[in-house]
Amino acid sequence: MLTVLDSIPSWRTLRAELGSRSLGFVPTLGGLHAGHAALVERSVAENERTLVSVFLNPTQFDEPTDLAAYPADLEADRSLVESLGADYLLCPSRDEIYPDRYRYRVAEGELSRTLCGEHRPGHFDGVLTVVMKLLQIVSPTRAYFGEKDHQQLQLVRGMVEAFFLPMEIVACATVRESDGLAASSRNRKLDPEQRRLAPAFPALLRGAPRPGDVRRRLEEAGFGVDYVEDVTGRRYAAVRLGPVRLIDNVPLSEVERDGGGEV
Ligand code: PAJ
Repeated sequence: MLTVLDSIPSWRTLRAELGSRSLGFVPTLGGLHAGHAALVERSVAENERTLVSVFLNPTQFDEPTDLAAYPADLEADRSLVESLGADYLLCPSRDEIYPDRYRYRVAEGELSRTLCGEHRPGHFDGVLTVVMKLLQIVSPTRAYFGEKDHQQLQLVRGMVEAFFLPMEIVACATVRESDGLAASSRNRKLDPEQRRLAPAFPALLRGAPRPGDVRRRLEEAGFGVDYVEDVTGRRYAAVRLGPVRLIDNVPLSEVERDGGGEV
């Protein structure tokens, strides 16, 4: 049975009653899909209780139109989370999460300024601040994050270490659609032609040894390219199809080495 909580105090009472039982936590923005489902399934398998949060965090959206257009369907999210066997769904209000009106922030000064951070100013301050707040509220044994957002995952890991937070961060592999496109709520915003082109993104990402060649091929295929970069054993990229921004990353071990692999 899923318990839906729309306020922090009601969760705090339940949290106190859980005592030493293990608690898994999956934070989300809502618009849940197969990628989120994999995190919830893993948490349910590894913990006595699982809490999923749905909070459309305004401080991490650098473009107001992106926030306004974000898919939100709490009833669909609720029934998915329930079918996966989670115990709690926490949907706090913006006022409840930001009583300080975002005067207090968690900021990281290196990694958060690169890759997506370079193209989305302030994005990772918003992410780290809300994740810090949610981790303090939920007080989980383990929190689950997807490798789809690998830079976010690393920043959250670093924050948990830097602030001595007593919990484990668990990384979950990227869930992909059958054609290779990473599952994302943004995929729903692609028109049919863009959706047909989109799987070329993960394919081209792996298809050449040098990031510069990948960029060129993506541009030739019709993508707008924010960045393609190899950093410490991984290749990261962000592209645009019309107004829709897609990100992905792969280990360099999956990248073509010999200059072949025309796609
Ligand atoms: P959101 O985009 O809703 O993603 C919630 C979690 O699901 C993140 O850890 C993300 O990496 C993971 N996820 C999304 N798509 C995935 C996929 N295809 N495969 C595997 N995991 C996937 O990321 C956020 O929300 C927010 O920044 C948040 C952490 C909730 C803070 O607001």
